[in-house]
Amino acid sequence: MTNHTTAIEVAGLTKSYADNAVLRGIDLTVHTGTVYALLGPNGAGKTTMVRILSTLITADAGEARVAGFDVRRESDAVRRSIGVTGQFSALDELLTGRENLRLMADLGHLRAAEATSRVA
Ligand SMILES: Nc1ncnc2c1ncn2[C@@H]1O[C@H](COP(=O)(O)OP(=O)(O)OP(=O)(O)O)[C@@H](O)[C@H]1O
Ligand SMILES: [Mg+2]
Repeated sequence: MTNHTTAIEVAGLTKSYADNAVLRGIDLTVHTGTVYALLGPNGAGKTTMVRILSTLITADAGEARVAGFDVRRESDAVRRSIGVTGQFSALDELLTGRENLRLMADLGHLRAAEATSRVA
C-alpha cells in the first residue's frame, strides 16, 4: 500500500479508550515532501493519531505505515525515520531555535561535526 512518494499511509485506523471510540476508521495519505495539517476540535483525536503514528501507543485495528514502515511491526524503523515535537512537553520556550535543532541532532545521534553543519 506504500510507495516511495508516500510519507504516511493510514487505512481503517481505530482506537478507543474504554467506551470512548476516539478514532473510528481513519483513512489518510500524506505524500513525501508535503506539509500536512490535521485539524479538529478539542478531543477529536489528533494527539491520539500522532501517538499511534509515532509508535507511542498502538491502535486497536487498522493499518498505519510511516516512511514505508509498519508502525506496529517495524516501530524501530519508524522511530529512526521521524522527528516529533510535543505540544506541551517541547522546549520551544526554553531553548533558542538553534538549541532546539542541536537537541534534535543529539537525539538523532549525529556526529558533532555533522550536527554542527546541519544545524547551521
Ligand atoms: N490516555 C487516555 N485515556 C483515556 N482517554 C483518553 C486518553 N487520551 C486521550 N483520551 C480521550 O480521547 C479523546 C481524544 O483525545 P486527544 O487528546 O487525542 O484529542 P485532541 O484532538 O488531540 O484534542 P486537543 O485539541 O485538546 O489537543 C478525548 O476524549 C480524550 O479525553
Ligand atoms: Mg491534542
